[in-house]
Amino acid sequence: MTDVTVAKEDAAPVGDLVVLKDVNKHFGALHVLQDIDLTIARGEVVVVIGPSGSGKSTLCRTINRLETIDSGSIAIDGKPLPAEGKELARLRADVGMVFQSFNLFAHKTILENVTLGQVKVRKADKKVAEEKARALLDRVGVGAQADKYPAQLSGGQQQRVAIARALAMEPKVMLFDEPTSALDPEMINEVLEVMQQLARDGMTMIVVTHEMGFARSAANRVVFMADGRIVEEAAPEQFFSNPRSDRAKDFLSKILHH
Ligand SMILES: Nc1ncnc2c1ncn2[C@@H]1O[C@H](COP(=O)(O)OP(=O)(O)OP(=O)(O)O)[C@@H](O)[C@H]1O
Ligand SMILES: [Mg+2]
Repeated sequence: MTDVTVAKEDAAPVGDLVVLKDVNKHFGALHVLQDIDLTIARGEVVVVIGPSGSGKSTLCRTINRLETIDSGSIAIDGKPLPAEGKELARLRADVGMVFQSFNLFAHKTILENVTLGQVKVRKADKKVAEEKARALLDRVGVGAQADKYPAQLSGGQQQRVAIARALAMEPKVMLFDEPTSALDPEMINEVLEVMQQLARDGMTMIVVTHEMGFARSAANRVVFMADGRIVEEAAPEQFFSNPRSDRAKDFLSKILHH
């Protein structure tokens, strides 16, 4: 185990880590996020599901300020999102993000990918950063690939490197936006298993995914979005066995029966 989990256990065990209040956002005429209220507790795993275009990715992107919002507020660990500069770089380190596409630096080795941010943003010593990178690469099962370049790895391996890279920054929360949907089926589980372990280790996670098995086994709460709104939220067992809204019933019947 790395000190990522230790840092986690040292942190206050209770309290709200991510708080969105009455968040609204438009893309031109499209009201993409509508009156979003969402509070995520420290250590909580929230799975966000909903139809294509419902605003799930936009929601994720507002939380590390890849997108700005028009009104409302977003706070991480009690602090409003910073607008720019070093503060923003630090926020992006505090809020680790893993996207559908494996956006590793193509011209850097795997080890460099996981070391760079630690040195640049967290001002870590290079040796220390490399040691930590190797430990994290081992933890996600790609330690042997450290000196290769991203293109030499499978999609599942690259995605696990992306997770290690985010973890190297000791994030307070991890956002995953469909991290397995671009992967070949045989690689999906190796990424989900890393995420499961992370959840068990107590990482606060917001996960957009169509992997309902993951939602059932790892999530504390399922948030269902449609047309820019949070339509329903519930514990996974309750949501999957007894969705209340027609939108959720309709969505579940489509994804569970094909
Ligand atoms: N940069 C942008 N400019 C204009 N419209 C955008 C932009 N990004 C997203 N949209 C629109 O906002 C809506 C929500 O998009 P978003 O990507 O958040 O949905 P999603 O729930 O993640 O969908 P999917 O399941 O397909 O990933 C869509 O109608 C999309 O076309
Ligand atoms: Mg999306």
